[in-house]
Amino acid sequence: MSQQEKLIFEISSSGRRGVSLPPLDVPRKPLEEMIPTKFQRKTPPRLPEVSELDVVRHFTRLSQLNYSVDTHFYPLGSCTMKYNPRVHEEVAGLEGFSRLHPYQPPEQTQGMLELLYHFSELVKEICGMPEFSLQPAAGAHGELLGMMLVRAYHRKRGETGRKKIIIPDSAHGTNPASAALSGFEVIEVKSDSHGLVDLEDLRRTMSPEIAGMMITNPNTLGLFEKDIVTICNILHEAGGLVYCDGANMNALLGRVKPGAMGIDLLHLNLHKTFTGPHGGGGPGSGPLGVSEPLRPFLPVPRVKKEGDTYIWDYNYPETIGRIKAFYGHIGVIIKAYAYILSLGTEGLMKVSEAAVLNANFLRKKLSNFYDLPYPEVCMHEFVLSGRRQKKQGVTTLDIAKRLLDYDFYAPTIYFPLIVEEALMIEPTETESKQTLEAFAEALIKIAKEAESAPDRVKGAPFDTPVRRLDEVKAAREPNLHWNFP
Ligand SMILES: Cc1ncc(COP(=O)(O)O)c(C=O)c1O
Repeated sequence: MSQQEKLIFEISSSGRRGVSLPPLDVPRKPLEEMIPTKFQRKTPPRLPEVSELDVVRHFTRLSQLNYSVDTHFYPLGSCTMKYNPRVHEEVAGLEGFSRLHPYQPPEQTQGMLELLYHFSELVKEICGMPEFSLQPAAGAHGELLGMMLVRAYHRKRGETGRKKIIIPDSAHGTNPASAALSGFEVIEVKSDSHGLVDLEDLRRTMSPEIAGMMITNPNTLGLFEKDIVTICNILHEAGGLVYCDGANMNALLGRVKPGAMGIDLLHLNLHKTFTGPHGGGGPGSGPLGVSEPLRPFLPVPRVKKEGDTYIWDYNYPETIGRIKAFYGHIGVIIKAYAYILSLGTEGLMKVSEAAVLNANFLRKKLSNFYDLPYPEVCMHEFVLSGRRQKKQGVTTLDIAKRLLDYDFYAPTIYFPLIVEEALMIEPTETESKQTLEAFAEALIKIAKEAESAPDRVKGAPFDTPVRRLDEVKAAREPNLHWNFP
């Protein structure tokens, strides 16, 4: 155990106390009367004996060992780890919102219903989709709902033989998972040499069994699928629907409406694009927008405006039902609402502009030092390959670990799967030029180290509280229990 770990974990000292209770001023019953003998402990619990100051220092120190958007640049591709404005927390915490109970009748919750109604109107306008459900709890949940709606749509038309969903080989893993979980068979379509959906391969997969396609635009290589209208036409002509994974809407805000491209279903990740804290920092929210023919199947209840009053409307006979307790993750929706209102149309356009500019700035700075398999101008993120460094004996994992020594969080690695030794970088619009330059400098230094001193990279990280962990074991067999010796 390192000295630092000892400091954190071995601070217990016999007899030390963190609280001092006043003397008991009520009669004390015999223990047997309160707890039956068979349930009484035979030995006292082994708890750390610490003072209040010990506890405060312990947790403060622990919090400082962690990475977060509040402390570090967090270029985790596909995750849009942008700054979470504090005013959103203030707004979501207002008593009128945070102290409402979901069982309160609509007469008492008109303000909240109005907010949900208005929020839906705003995202409808931003995305060009006729209606949204705010129930999904995250992006993957929106995908699942989307697939359920695709099934309901075909079933209503008597086309129950449509059992296949097409998904590009660059897709995020949740796409095939959501399709398979909804009972569809997944068909993979290849990317072409430019990293875009191969139209010939797509045409070849068309058949009366196709229920639809899930596509991400911009895709996970950070490239805009410029043939999206043709892709939608191919699917529609074959009787299928097109689902757009909107996790990358940060690149399109205020500029492109997915509905206008021919998309039938689209989820938003409010916890990415619209600044909800995520990645351990808070729950998600993945509203799903749909085109006109899918409206009847959306979940209930839906907020409806009748004159000046808002009500919960359950009266949709073809609905697939509820997919979430109550009404969705309202706190995240309030934060997203505050974000949209505070930025307005021009502000949202600046978001996508700066997100794309920042990504291209980094892409250019790094392209002489790392392989760039798809060198086209990118959208809000781009994917490098560490295959040059691998020939020098240094893997992408080593590069990611070495970045920690330079005080940067690592990019997403080994995804998308079609890029060998992938490093997927998404700077977001909230980072300054200075931060981007410092990050590029660190990655360039690492590329040079890989040539001249590969062991410095292979042995990394050297400066973190713990070195290399078995991340798979930590996820599969989490052991969160501390045993005092
Ligand atoms: C492209 C893409 N699609 C879908 C998802 C799933 O979203 P969520 O994590 O909110 O379930 C992610 C998440 O990282 C993503 O990057």
